[in-house]
Amino acid sequence: MTDSDNPEIMLKTVGLTKRYGEITALEDLNLTIPRGQVFGYVGHNGAGKTTTIRILAGLLSATSGKAIIAGTDLAGDRDRLKQLVGYMPDEFGVYDQMRVWEYLDFFGAAFKIPRRDRKKRIDEVLDITEAEYMRDRFVDTLSKGMKQKVGIARTLMHDPQLLLLDEPANGLDPRARIEQRNLIRQLADRGKTLLVSSHILPELASVCDLVGIIHQGRMQAFGPLEEVLGSIRRDRVMELKVNAGAATVADWLGKHPSCRHVDTADIKMGILHFRFSGDDAAQADLLRKLIAGNVRVASFREVPLSLEDAFMALSGMTTEDQEDAEAEDAAAPAAPSVSAPGTQVATLEPEAAPADPQGAEEPPAQ
Ligand SMILES: Nc1ncnc2c1ncn2[C@@H]1O[C@H](COP(=O)(O)OP(=O)(O)OP(=O)(O)O)[C@@H](O)[C@H]1O
Ligand SMILES: [Mg+2]
Repeated sequence: MTDSDNPEIMLKTVGLTKRYGEITALEDLNLTIPRGQVFGYVGHNGAGKTTTIRILAGLLSATSGKAIIAGTDLAGDRDRLKQLVGYMPDEFGVYDQMRVWEYLDFFGAAFKIPRRDRKKRIDEVLDITEAEYMRDRFVDTLSKGMKQKVGIARTLMHDPQLLLLDEPANGLDPRARIEQRNLIRQLADRGKTLLVSSHILPELASVCDLVGIIHQGRMQAFGPLEEVLGSIRRDRVMELKVNAGAATVADWLGKHPSCRHVDTADIKMGILHFRFSGDDAAQADLLRKLIAGNVRVASFREVPLSLEDAFMALSGMTTEDQEDAEAEDAAAPAAPSVSAPGTQVATLEPEAAPADPQGAEEPPAQ
């Protein structure tokens, strides 16, 4: 069975490409999204997210490549595709003197839902999106967050299988974002497949099953969130908590050839963060050396890579670039010195430190 007729595959694109004259807005996009999953489509402004979504919604034709939605080729049966796909644009549009229920009724009619069924359907979508209280409000008087709810309600009117939500979290406050994430998960649990775009990165991490990172029209990474994060990990970020002597350990880590950017912001709690370039074995060696050096290690762990870090790495910006930029922007005072008062508890025992030809590999003798 090919993906095209596999009922478990909701969306498949093959070499999808869009050019506007000289500009290639989207190049060779290959996606496979199983039914019932949430796909987080992440990219900076101008990356090609809206272009992709508009092609999938049938509003824009691709220059080349194809897209298959629930087994139907996008270039094929337009009426069936309209029924399959629900599209929420990034702009709400202007709907003068139209109440929420009228707005939903209007879209229901556009999707040929018989009049007798529309009232019930309006009740249902207002219930799912928790927007009943807006029913008689004029849409142009709604707040941004309210409009986003009504936008999703409208997208659900004809009960599509694939929802394309273009930046639905745009302009929402933190509470409204949490509500929206819950709604997205709830829709996936009901069997809907969702493509949700965002440039607000952590936004998607907690809600999506699959993530795609697009930059200048090209997909940089695509797959389950954990896999994507794992595949692009360059340096590990480590967190070390010691019972005493954190300043000495920070000093030693600073000289270690595999450790960089020792962050002492939490040194008062005995916590150090640093970047470590090495595999699992090297990480184990580092821990062994710390313990052999009589460092009282309370915990030692790798901090999972955030979507934010992944995104920056893939779009050619390193975390350090960002840190440098932030530091310049804020002209912030330097991180607390490792010799801050109260942190100088020397615990490293010289006799425990094994000889090492690289010198800096070992915790210093006190
Ligand atoms: N009608 C058009 N004519 C020419 N170029 C266009 C057109 N629409 C989009 N583009 C270009 O295609 C590229 C991708 O744009 P697109 O709107 O898909 O990005 P996006 O990822 O949705 O960005 P944003 O986060 O700002 O919404 C951009 O370089 C944009 O300038
Ligand atoms: Mg866009």
